[in-house]
Amino acid sequence: MQRTLSIVKPDGTAKNVIGDVIKRFESAGLKIIALKRIKLSKEEAKGFYIVHKARPFYDSLTDFMSEGPVVVMAIEGDDAIAKVRDLMGATNPKDAKPGTIRADLATDLERNTVHGSDSPESAAFEIPYFFSALEII
Ligand code: CMP
Repeated sequence: MQRTLSIVKPDGTAKNVIGDVIKRFESAGLKIIALKRIKLSKEEAKGFYIVHKARPFYDSLTDFMSEGPVVVMAIEGDDAIAKVRDLMGATNPKDAKPGTIRADLATDLERNTVHGSDSPESAAFEIPYFFSALEII
């Protein structure tokens, strides 16, 4: 069993595709073990993406991630990190395989609808960024 953190980003909540994203995770046999809809402040978005702080897209990314509501969820299952990443597709929707979340629903590299932890180390930072132990069931 492995855990990962996924986010339906502000473009996804604006497009009413929260259920569509969750359906894909559940249909793949993954369990949603924590879930909430929140609006990040710019500072909270910067803290979440701190690993990208030296990147040229950091400011724009954190503006985007704080422009509207997001849905954050902790997900559990066998190989959950890779499974979620396969379901999401490539970071840039132009490169994403047909049938993936980003190919079907995303707009561009920044407004790419979903986030998923890229490693166990990232998941270990990202899950407790949003959820206390009591909120993960
Ligand atoms: P995500 O998986 O949430 O992780 C970092 C995000 O930065 C990524 O999705 C993209 O939405 C965003 N991003 C914006 N520009 C770039 C870029 N040039 N390379 C990678 N990620 C980018």
